[in-house]
Amino acid sequence: MRVMITGAHGLLGQKLSLVFGRETSHELLLTDLAARTFFINKRFDYQQLDITQLSDVKSLVGSYRPDVIINTAALTNVDACEEDKLAAWRLNVDGVKNLIIPARRIDGCRIVQLSTDYVFNGRSGPYDETARPNPVSYYGKSKLAAENAMLDSPVNGIVARTQVLYGAGYEVRQNFVSWVLAQLEKAVPFRVVDDQKGNPTLADDLAFGILKLIERGAEGIFHVSGPESIDRFSFARKIAEIFGFDPELISPTSSAETGQAANRPPDSTFITLKFEAACNERLSDVARGLERLRQQLRDGATHTDLLSDSRFF
Ligand SMILES: NC(=O)c1ccc[n+]([C@@H]2O[C@H](COP(=O)([O-])OP(=O)(O)OC[C@H]3O[C@@H](n4cnc5c(N)ncnc54)[C@H](OP(=O)(O)O)[C@@H]3O)[C@@H](O)[C@H]2O)c1
Repeated sequence: MRVMITGAHGLLGQKLSLVFGRETSHELLLTDLAARTFFINKRFDYQQLDITQLSDVKSLVGSYRPDVIINTAALTNVDACEEDKLAAWRLNVDGVKNLIIPARRIDGCRIVQLSTDYVFNGRSGPYDETARPNPVSYYGKSKLAAENAMLDSPVNGIVARTQVLYGAGYEVRQNFVSWVLAQLEKAVPFRVVDDQKGNPTLADDLAFGILKLIERGAEGIFHVSGPESIDRFSFARKIAEIFGFDPELISPTSSAETGQAANRPPDSTFITLKFEAACNERLSDVARGLERLRQQLRDGATHTDLLSDSRFF
C-alpha cells in the first residue's frame, strides 16, 4: 500500500510513522507544515503540505496516488478553537474536504479521519458508535462536521474517534500526562478537575489500532481508545504513583473553577467493543499504558537521541 500521513510531526503522526515504518512494508509519504522533517529513517519520504491549501493537496495527492490517507492534522487545542472559530473550521473541516476532493478521483483510495469524544455532550454515556453526537464546544462541532463530510462522501474510510491521547515524542505539544509530570517535577501542590471523565489512550496504541483497522479493511466509525474510564484527578494521582511522585501533591477541583474557554463533556466514556471485535486487540488500560510510557522515557534519554534512536517512541 501507498500510505500518506498528514500532520506527521504531531504526536499521533510520529507514532503512525514509526508503527508503519517498523511493522509493515507499506510505502510511506509523511507530510506536515514544516519545510523539512526531523525523521532520519530513509524509508520516510517527506513533503511539506498545508491541508488548507486545496491546490497543493490536489497536486500532491494526484501525483502520489495513495491507497490510504491518514489525516491526523487538526487544530487540537480545544480552547484555541473556541477563540478562533474560523481557523478551527478551515483546518478541521475544510482541510478534510480538501483531501476528499482529490481522493475521489483515485480508485480505491481510503481516508482515515481522526476524531474525538468531544463530539458528545458527556451527559448520557458510555458511548458506542451508534450514539447520537451533540458537541458542547466549537472543537467538537468542527470535528463532527469533518466526520460528516467524510461519511457523506463517496470515499470509503474510517472515522477513528479517540480521547485523552498521551505519549512521548519529539517536540510534541503538551498532553495531559506530560503536563501532570511537569507539575509533579516542581514538587509544588496543584489541582486537577475531578468532574471530567474518559478513556486515556497511549498514542503508540492508537497508531497500532489504526494500522490494524486499515489492514482489516474496516469502514465506518470506530471508538479507538484505552478500555478503562477514569476521572482526570484520579488519573493524575495514578500518574504520580506510577512515576514515583507523591500523589498527595494533587488535590481535586471542578471544571467551573478552571475558567477554560471551551465547555468539556463531563463523562465521555467510550465503549470500545466494536474496535476490539474487529481487530481482536485491546489497547492498554491506565496502569499498563503509563508503565509503558515510563519505560520509554527511562530508555529514551534526550531529544538528540530521538533523531538517531527511535527507542523513545
Ligand atoms: N490530543 C488528544 O487528546 C486528542 C483527542 C481526541 C482526538 N484527537 C485527534 O487526533 C488527531 C491527532 O492529534 P495529535 O494530538 O497527534 O495532534 P498534534 O500533536 O497537535 O499534531 C497535529 C499536527 O498537524 C500539523 N498541522 C497543523 N496545521 C496543519 C495544516 N494546515 N496542514 C497540515 N498539518 C498541519 C501540526 O503542525 P504544527 O505543530 O506545526 O502546528 C502537527 O504536527 C487530531 O485529529 C485530533 O483532533 C486528539
